[in-house]
Amino acid sequence: MFETWEELEKSIVNCSKCKLYKTRQNIVFGVGNKEAKIMFIGEGPGADEDRLGEPFVGRAGKLMNMAFQAVGLKREDVYIANVVKCRPPSNRNPEEDEANACLNYLRNQVLLVKPKIIVLLGSVALKNILGKEYGITSARGKWIERKGIQYMPTWHPAALLRDETKKIDFINDLKLVVELASQTN
Ligand code: URA
Repeated sequence: MFETWEELEKSIVNCSKCKLYKTRQNIVFGVGNKEAKIMFIGEGPGADEDRLGEPFVGRAGKLMNMAFQAVGLKREDVYIANVVKCRPPSNRNPEEDEANACLNYLRNQVLLVKPKIIVLLGSVALKNILGKEYGITSARGKWIERKGIQYMPTWHPAALLRDETKKIDFINDLKLVVELASQTN
């Protein structure tokens, strides 16, 4: 584990730990406040993110930004990263070896940000961070505490694009996050 952002960022620049490096345009490392109380973890970059090198800048990201606005969160106040930093072709789920190869970068990001709250966006984030035994449908909307961090699993914003009825859950889950963050130093 690296003790500084500089070292961590340097370590990933030419990453070829899994096959996704062959098809990426950009490594999508993470964005936001490096001392944020709240961290968001998604699945992996899509086409727009791969092109621009920033997480959640495509359709799902725009929806997430709108939800942030609805609950009074600012994108620049939180830290946003993904399980895998390079785009899986055709937006397929990251394969186990790809996620495993990449997870230490994410763990290092968590170590450096030291968030009080981590929002897990969808099943891939939930299973890779908290364990394969969790399912997003039953876990979402409920706090899970691990080693002093409060985890809030919720729908992936792309799921809201497919099913509008999930939007209300997503907003409600974010409201819980904002409420807890306001009570935490
Ligand atoms: N979906 C994700 O999981 N992450 C992104 O950065 C964009 C879309």
